[in-house]
Amino acid sequence: MASKAANASRAASTTPRRRAASRAAYLEAKLGFRNYWYPAVFAHELADGRAIGVRLLGENILIRRVGGVPMAVEDRCLHRGVRFSRKPECYTADTVTCWYHGFTYRLSDGKLVEILTEPGSSLIGKLALKTYPTIEAKGIVFVYIGERAAGELAGDVPPNFLDPDLEIDGIRDEVKTNWRMGAENGFDTTHIYIHRNSPLVTGNSIVLPLGMYPNDKHGFSTYTESEPKGVLDHTFESYHPVFEAAIDGQTVARSKGINNQKIVAREVSIWMPGALKVDPWPDPALIQFEWYVPVDVDVHMYWRVLGKRVGSPAEAAAFHEEFETRWKTLALHGFNDDDIQAREGMEEFYRNDDAWEQEHLFKADSCIIEWRKIASQHNRGLQPFA
Ligand code: FES
Ligand SMILES: [Fe+2]
Repeated sequence: MASKAANASRAASTTPRRRAASRAAYLEAKLGFRNYWYPAVFAHELADGRAIGVRLLGENILIRRVGGVPMAVEDRCLHRGVRFSRKPECYTADTVTCWYHGFTYRLSDGKLVEILTEPGSSLIGKLALKTYPTIEAKGIVFVYIGERAAGELAGDVPPNFLDPDLEIDGIRDEVKTNWRMGAENGFDTTHIYIHRNSPLVTGNSIVLPLGMYPNDKHGFSTYTESEPKGVLDHTFESYHPVFEAAIDGQTVARSKGINNQKIVAREVSIWMPGALKVDPWPDPALIQFEWYVPVDVDVHMYWRVLGKRVGSPAEAAAFHEEFETRWKTLALHGFNDDDIQAREGMEEFYRNDDAWEQEHLFKADSCIIEWRKIASQHNRGLQPFA
């Protein structure tokens, strides 16, 4: 159920001490939050027989399909600690063998079932790798990180992502910044300033102001009583767009999207454990979803995913074609590569823990303050970091 957020301008001017307390857990969440499902690889990357190593929230994980079903185990041999994924060896469908001395583990339960260099070892059957729950949905393999029993995937992804008629396509790239730089760049309403020269603006005739600021106290809604938990910004209804900028009365910048026709980004929302939804975007017929998945303290996996409602396999195929030939270049790279640069620009400053006390936020950052508060107060556990 949605509850209207506190007065947006009041949120921006909350006293520093109260602000610090309300966001404390978020500041500690350098490696994100435990007990959530995270996207790990696209399903098409995991052909039958292939084993892939990924790093999620600082944990090394090996994923392989067994009978078509993705299985995930800790990517670290129990003998001498090497990663299987350096040189995956799989002699049978449901095992992985360590390339170093031949310790062999069953993927379904992680058990050590053979040691190729010492048959009959007394260790066999006594050791087991940690295993991770997996789910495949919308062409993405999700892995659950946590010790609590895994809940429904629907509680950990943005609303509508799992809608049966929504066809999905996307890309993922490593970005060398903390995941919170990704989340705060994506959900930042005024950062559209960096996109003013994007080829998408004229290439798809979208209306894109230089910036936006909330024009009343109901700029956003918070969702904390159901899953997923998040904040939704009513950008179209509740924000004042800025199309021209001046210094000393002289116009210095003008939006290229001022006379365009297509209305996009009516709503922008962010959801635990760190996923964005821009609806519609980058076209009135599309929705963009993004994940900022912690890899390490200073690296995140940036997932850029588009969804389109389709009514038939032919429409789905047409969308994938359109994704490859148009949206991947024009929108995901042509627009969102600017975001990668912006995050890299923030990283040096925010790497220092004192930075969160030194920033000077303005009215339009109210939504970011709200996101930090929700992430601090409604998470299922912090991922510890060394
Ligand atoms: S390190 Fe894996 S078998 Fe020795
Ligand atoms: Fe952006």
